[in-house]
Amino acid sequence: TVLIVDFGSQVTQLIARRVREAGVYSEIVPFNRASEALERLQPKAIILSGGPASVTAEGSPRAPQGVFESGLPILSICYGQQTTAVQLGGVVEGGHPAEFGRADVVIKEPSALFEGVWEVGKRYPVWMSHGDRVTQMPEGITVKATSENAPFAVATDEKRRIYTTMFHPEVVHTPDGAKLLANFVHRIAGIQNDWTMAHFRTAEIAKIRSQVGGARVISGLSGGVDSAVASVLIHEAIGNQLTCIFVDHGLLRQNEAEEVVRLFREHYNIPLVHVDARERFLAALAGKSDPEAKRKIIGGLFIDVFEEEARKLGGADFLAQGTLYPDVIESVSFTGGPSVTIKSHHNVGGLPERMNLKLVEPLRELFKDEVRALGRELGLPETFVGRHPFPGPGLAIRIPGEITEEKLNILRQADAIYLDEIRKAGLYDEIWQAFAVLLPVRTVGVMGDARTYEYVCALRAVTSTDGMTADYYPFEHAFLGATATRIINEVRGINRVVYDITSKPPGTIEWE
Ligand code: XMP
Repeated sequence: TVLIVDFGSQVTQLIARRVREAGVYSEIVPFNRASEALERLQPKAIILSGGPASVTAEGSPRAPQGVFESGLPILSICYGQQTTAVQLGGVVEGGHPAEFGRADVVIKEPSALFEGVWEVGKRYPVWMSHGDRVTQMPEGITVKATSENAPFAVATDEKRRIYTTMFHPEVVHTPDGAKLLANFVHRIAGIQNDWTMAHFRTAEIAKIRSQVGGARVISGLSGGVDSAVASVLIHEAIGNQLTCIFVDHGLLRQNEAEEVVRLFREHYNIPLVHVDARERFLAALAGKSDPEAKRKIIGGLFIDVFEEEARKLGGADFLAQGTLYPDVIESVSFTGGPSVTIKSHHNVGGLPERMNLKLVEPLRELFKDEVRALGRELGLPETFVGRHPFPGPGLAIRIPGEITEEKLNILRQADAIYLDEIRKAGLYDEIWQAFAVLLPVRTVGVMGDARTYEYVCALRAVTSTDGMTADYYPFEHAFLGATATRIINEVRGINRVVYDITSKPPGTIEWE
């Protein structure tokens, strides 16, 4: 295990991902819990993250002194470098907030960190953070690379195995960063590859068996990757002690419900209750057009329906959930104030308490890309594993205004054509999410000699790494033109197509 001590950088999660991509398990812990984690995890190496604070500010975060007394290899990044310097007797000057930018480093001396990656005398691009800066390193730590503005771009004590960088090796803008991190965990810390999805599968199955024993488990399938992977894994562990409940709320995409049912019943032979609740959801949503109201109705009704079905089954002891690692990492917050709710994401929160269920969460340690890899390991079809994320409230938040069956049908057809064109053009995997939105606006058009007065369809496609920020996808005009033509010709009810070129922020990915 590699312990990652978090000082609140936006990109700390990427450190964990890069380390895991190198085949080594890593955990992120807030700096003020690092002492306890050092005991509990018995890590073989420690990484100190970046962070927004200034080490010169009073009360700014520090690593527990035990980190430096542990004798373990340490890699300190950005803020981590500064606090390392200060805590070991160096000097930092500043009071500048951290910001990022491209820079080149020049390698001055060899280091175990660079082996096989960077050569002395050469120059390499990195993503540097500007802000406070170390002006004097502690004894024993010497410069290995510099940049124009950073005399201590890399400074290390090879004997004590303390490595510090002012730049961020974890971001893709430092092209060789992943290799440097791999050097740290393999060459320097000597950690073997112990983190593969095959290992995880075996270990997690044993864990599920010991947690659940002979008890009964229910899981809710959503059509998404996480709930499917969690359910297949649990089924592999405990067989028919698991029952899956699939609540079809009628807000799914074309053929999606059938695919889920077929996959579970036929491909895996996993017991599945398919609840057709389409009319109940439509009735509950009738006349409602406020986005938050729609989300609350869907979330609430989902819980009601799920609970009814679970009771019919005679109840259960455990509820399976596809909770992922980013949901459980405790974040370091410096603002303290409550954050504003932009959207209340629909989930089954509250259900475990209401039904007195314990939780099984076999994906708690995984990032999304690891869940996909595990899905492949478990034999889920590629079309399923590689799916774009899909929101819990489904198409209801892609129809601004009131939801009707007619609008849902129109949207499903347009969305299917759009995704079909994207797949045919080979672009599906380059895009984080792509979908059609049906606007509650009719406009005039002409078809043959006749006047038409029909809905507007907006197409959305974004690239993103985590859904937190996103850029619109720059399709070729020819692609957009051909797709629009197909939608207008094939879908009755749409006579105009527009493309959404808003990034996030300031837009959000979904329209509601
Ligand atoms: P936004 O629209 O907030 O979306 O930029 C970010 C990511 O979250 C998904 N999303 C949801 N997922 N329930 C979900 O499970 C929701 O209510 C919900 N709203 C948005 C969205 O699809 C994108 O991937």
